[in-house]
Amino acid sequence: MPGNGSLNGDEAAIRAAAEQIAAARYCTALTGAGISKESGIPTFRGEGGLWTRQGEPPMNGYQLFLEDPRGWWLERLEQQRNPPEFAKAIATARPNPGHLALAQLEQRGFLKHLISQNVDGLHLDAGSTRLTEIHGNRRKLRCIACGRRGPARDFGEDDVPPHCDACGGIVKADTVMFGEPIPRAFIDACFAEAAKSDLMLVIGTSATVHPAADLPLQVLRRGGAIIEMNVDATPFSAYATVSLRGPAGVLLPQVVQALDSFDPRPERPAV
Ligand code: APR
Repeated sequence: MPGNGSLNGDEAAIRAAAEQIAAARYCTALTGAGISKESGIPTFRGEGGLWTRQGEPPMNGYQLFLEDPRGWWLERLEQQRNPPEFAKAIATARPNPGHLALAQLEQRGFLKHLISQNVDGLHLDAGSTRLTEIHGNRRKLRCIACGRRGPARDFGEDDVPPHCDACGGIVKADTVMFGEPIPRAFIDACFAEAAKSDLMLVIGTSATVHPAADLPLQVLRRGGAIIEMNVDATPFSAYATVSLRGPAGVLLPQVVQALDSFDPRPERPAV
């Protein structure tokens, strides 16, 4: 990477982002569907988005589940036999260089925590460990009474709907449905991380869904900064100290490479 003088706009912006990450006391990240686009999973909004093409799901999805959990589960079991587009895409998806770069930033001590709105589990597959999946994880189930979460095998699936072995409560998919309150533990963890952050990377999200979209605002309100990475402008573009335009799977490895050029911190031993 050449000296600052000869950097073009993009290189200068990548370097500026890397410098801010290296200088940050407590850097966190918020990711959305855009980071998994290069893994073949459609985004929700914007051109070609799932909701754009299929219409948004009912905003009272959770109420409908509570009214007829058995019906919901029977439909889900049927979908497992004939998976819709989103489920099919997630089933075959692998982490891309964007996911891997974030895991590297964690392993090298630059990234203190990652908050993802994605339910695809690709950050975990990429090796991220300091992670909160604010909308849940498609590979897990959750008891709506005691909050117990885990892979399907942890819950007896013979019953339809399945019940929690610990408290007898009804079990649902771990993913947060429209109309469902986000579990307290997820919310508290996310806002606690935002409160500690002097820098937040906002990656591949339209920043339109709350409370996740409040997290960068929390950082800004506390005098912190945000760096945005997105193929398009978002409501946060005007507030970002650096706004990188392009695919996350291209930008993030470039940022890691820039960090290598002036702050080659060794990987921390796994905690
Ligand atoms: N790299 C970076 N950004 C990208 C890429 C890419 N390769 N491709 C698309 N984007 C950007 C789009 O410009 C858009 O700003 O990713 C964003 C995707 O926005 P949404 O589809 O609205 O997804 P997200 O912000 O994650 O949605 C939030 O809404 O529907 C609910 O629960 C769902 O978690 C989801 C939440």
